[in-house]
Amino acid sequence: MPTALVTGVTGQDGSYLAELLLKQGYKVIGMVRRTSTINFDRIRHIQDEIEIAQGDLLDQLSLISILQEYRPQEVYNLAAQSFVPTSFSQPVLTGEFTALGVTRLLDAIRIVDPSIRFYQASSSEMFGKVREVPQSEDTPFYPRSPYGVAKVYGHWITVNYRESYDIYACSGILFNHESPRRGLEFVTHKITSGVARIKLGLSKELRLGNLDSRRDWGYAPDYVRAMWLMLQQDNPDDYVVATGETHSVREFLEESFGHVDLDWQEFVVQDDSYYRPAEVDLLVGDASKAGRQLGWEPSVSFGELVRLMVDADLEYWQRQLKRDAASSA
Ligand code: NAP
Ligand code: GDD
Repeated sequence: MPTALVTGVTGQDGSYLAELLLKQGYKVIGMVRRTSTINFDRIRHIQDEIEIAQGDLLDQLSLISILQEYRPQEVYNLAAQSFVPTSFSQPVLTGEFTALGVTRLLDAIRIVDPSIRFYQASSSEMFGKVREVPQSEDTPFYPRSPYGVAKVYGHWITVNYRESYDIYACSGILFNHESPRRGLEFVTHKITSGVARIKLGLSKELRLGNLDSRRDWGYAPDYVRAMWLMLQQDNPDDYVVATGETHSVREFLEESFGHVDLDWQEFVVQDDSYYRPAEVDLLVGDASKAGRQLGWEPSVSFGELVRLMVDADLEYWQRQLKRDAASSA
């Protein structure tokens, strides 16, 4: 039974990747950092099937100790400070987690077992002010946020350790991917949760920032499959993972409010406080290399993604309403 370590297992991608690895017969070690309140909402259903190891990307010794104790063959580094606006207010902390954290983990691999296969969660945010359309593995980076800058560092240190120390290290340049498990601060889930609340009479408005930016939005479970595939090849490499379609935030609004027969323009309020100091206007990926070499392709369309997220939020808020009604009865 192969063993895999997943950092960021409590996050959106970590939870889906842990499910996939369990299905493939892996022993899964999920690294979690110490918090005063346990935050296992996304992994509660598989909590008994995985092992939890305490560690932090800020703490070198904890990373070395986990590798020494569990001896994984594969390490997936999904942990990061992943919210772009926070990277503007906490740029140094973002650099510590999202940039230097990658080197700490790669150094731990180099010290404990350089034969470990390593996946780095790189991001389309590295393309920032895009140099070409669509973006591929050969497109130059031009990050537009401290988060994007940190991810560029993480990408290049992964390439550098592969070339310097012959580590099987891959960087997956993943475009935005969403699901009902997406953090509520990200625009897709903020919108679909808002739509459900408005439909059920729990909210009257939805405050948002820039509606013109365009993203290449895919479905998270498809994207974790690409991560796993990258570590199963003969040679390590870097891959763009994307749907190849781009849509604006405005289109996301039309589709999601339209799904419940509402007109988004009656409810959305534009709020300057959600604008960023620098914006990434347009992302659209060319995943043809992943298609050719990994046999990967997305399985969920933009419309399907929006609808499944709205439906999941409607179900969630209906359940909450029933619970509230039962407890006040
Ligand atoms: P997410 O939901 O924000 O999850 C981030 C995870 O990182 C959480 O489990 C968090 O733990 C953990 N973490 C944060 N700081 C840590 C630290 N110092 N030590 C240990 N763990 C730490 O992110 P996601 O959407 O699943 O994304 C996974 C990875 O892919 C991230 O690296 C992200 O930057 C990257 N990425 C995401 C997308 C996307 O569209 N989702 C696209 C490209 C790249 P807590 O639960 O304790 O906070
Ligand atoms: N979060 C948020 N909240 N975004 C808003 C809002 C709002 O109220 N209103 C408009 N937007 C716009 C943002 O300005 C941005 O252009 C777009 O919606 C998407 O924002 P997010 O959903 O926060 O995602 P992101 O593209 O900045 O970053 C995500 O994708 C990256 C991959 O490109 C994150 O998951 C990153 O971790 C990931 O690397």
